[in-house]
Amino acid sequence: MAEKEQGFRKMLEKSIVENIRIEHPVVLKGQYETAYSLLKDALDTGITPCLVGPPGVGKSLLARKVAEDTARSFHEVFFDENVTPSRLIGSFDPALVVRSGRNISSFEPGPLIRAMVEGGLFVAHELNRATEFCQNSLIAPLEERHYHLFPLGMVKAQESFAFVATQNPIETSGTYRLSKVLVDRIGCWIRLTYPTKETELEIIRENTPAFSLPVSALDKIYEMVKATRESHVLEIPASPRSGIYLTRLVNKYIERFESEDAAIKFFAPAVLAKEMKVRGEEGKTVAKVVDEIIKKVLS
Ligand SMILES: Nc1ncnc2c1ncn2[C@@H]1O[C@H](COP(=O)(O)OP(=O)(O)O)[C@@H](O)[C@H]1O
Ligand SMILES: [Mg+2]
Repeated sequence: MAEKEQGFRKMLEKSIVENIRIEHPVVLKGQYETAYSLLKDALDTGITPCLVGPPGVGKSLLARKVAEDTARSFHEVFFDENVTPSRLIGSFDPALVVRSGRNISSFEPGPLIRAMVEGGLFVAHELNRATEFCQNSLIAPLEERHYHLFPLGMVKAQESFAFVATQNPIETSGTYRLSKVLVDRIGCWIRLTYPTKETELEIIRENTPAFSLPVSALDKIYEMVKATRESHVLEIPASPRSGIYLTRLVNKYIERFESEDAAIKFFAPAVLAKEMKVRGEEGKTVAKVVDEIIKKVLS
């Protein structure tokens, strides 16, 4: 048992990396070209941007890309009601405090303080889901670019420190509100939606290792994805992420099937029929809605 545990620790040590790099090329066409350029311009001007869009449209990827391209370290937090200011800022290690008091060495920095000190990029995912208390704790770092870290003193952010927020569109069900004081301090609202067909197909291809499907197969997959967005009864339609997943499966296992349609028909329900409620219509299930879409596209 002890040997197994030691083996694990060795593997853990080997798995620790400095920075996670983006693995696939980023498509910077159409809305992404505009969004990327706005994002960079806002950060260069010291203005806090917020990327707004439904899940899977590329908000995180754009933020990461800007961090990579501007050689900033990358720190992120996914907000919900349980995230406390100390999760962002950091806290003092009680054992070390007993030994040496509250000082630099007993302080465990959180991602926000790290980004401020390193001049990195801090991404606040779904900032609107943070509690008001937590949202308020961000005002000084955003506005004054400092944080009063009691009892160490005032932590001043490096020049290149940048802050990016992301959130789902406010009309999405279950979306919380950003506090008015924060809304006022976010100076650049960058909206992303589902990309055009051409852009989305390129995104799918770039994210599918050894992509080799015929155009017809990719077209059918896209038609299904698009139909889920037009259906209005699906609470969460298929995102570019879903298109990528379905394409990866069909691309890799198409040989198992007698035709491309058979492959798509096999994988599509599992990828597209997410576990969630159907809006409005009595007696409809997600599985039924998705089944109708698949039949229509493959007919
Ligand atoms: N412009 C793009 N170029 C390449 N891949 C993209 C692009 N936009 C989205 N993707 C891919 O789609 C998936 C979802 O993107 P992500 O940034 O995680 O979305 P979000 O943060 O909006 O939920 C990822 O696999 C990402 O690589
Ligand atoms: Mg994201």
